[in-house]
Amino acid sequence: MEKREKLYEGKAKQIFAVDDERYYIMTYKDEATAFDGTKKGIIENKGIVNNRISCLLFKMLEEKGIETHLLEQLDERNVLVKRLQMLPVEVVLRNVAAGSLAQRLGMEEGRELQIPIIELYYKNDDLHDPMINEYHAQAMGWATWEQLKEVQSLSLRINQILRKLFDSIGLILVDFKLEFGIYDNKIVLGDEISPDSCRLWDQVSREKMDKDRFRRDLGGEAEAYQEVVRRIEEVLG
Ligand code: TMP
Repeated sequence: MEKREKLYEGKAKQIFAVDDERYYIMTYKDEATAFDGTKKGIIENKGIVNNRISCLLFKMLEEKGIETHLLEQLDERNVLVKRLQMLPVEVVLRNVAAGSLAQRLGMEEGRELQIPIIELYYKNDDLHDPMINEYHAQAMGWATWEQLKEVQSLSLRINQILRKLFDSIGLILVDFKLEFGIYDNKIVLGDEISPDSCRLWDQVSREKMDKDRFRRDLGGEAEAYQEVVRRIEEVLG
């Protein structure tokens, strides 16, 4: 399927139309941003690595009965996906306190949470993606109650599946962000799952293997991303 006009350009990906209007092509870039795009940089080959990781993880989730937008990885940076009607809500799942949770509640990063925490954010860069709850989402018409229940139960199942997978390759799934959309009246997982959207710590060294290396100027981000894809390919490739 060939790329037609560019429909959208985000911070890490571009979206192109294809002849079939039920689908589109996502193209992964090497650009990295943080703090609402105020910090900018390039992580070498990030686009290639994130496309590969996301395709492998989405394929595994499909095999376990979770419907995703994935149709076919076309090449290193391009993937053919279903054209979802995205919910303007980001879902964050947390297993270990880190990042904004640790900051907001004054907790030390690394504390294991007694149950996974689900958080919702309204996807709006101008407002810096404010945290919301199910009532806000429903009251504003961003999602129905039923859709939110489905999104949360899918997120918990995805967390169980991904935690097990990462555990088997020596990584702790600290937290991650998911985005869902509607396709054929069903809730379907979209966007990506990659070291851009997850926190992954090495089980032994506790080293950060994700975008926090870029956000916090730790260095070695390209190498960390390569190591994550290498380990995932060992079990799923
Ligand atoms: P946070 O601790 O900064 O709220 O991030 C929680 C998780 O969500 C973390 O794994 C990174 C991911 N995330 C995104 O994918 N996009 C974003 O814009 C932000 C802020 C976080």
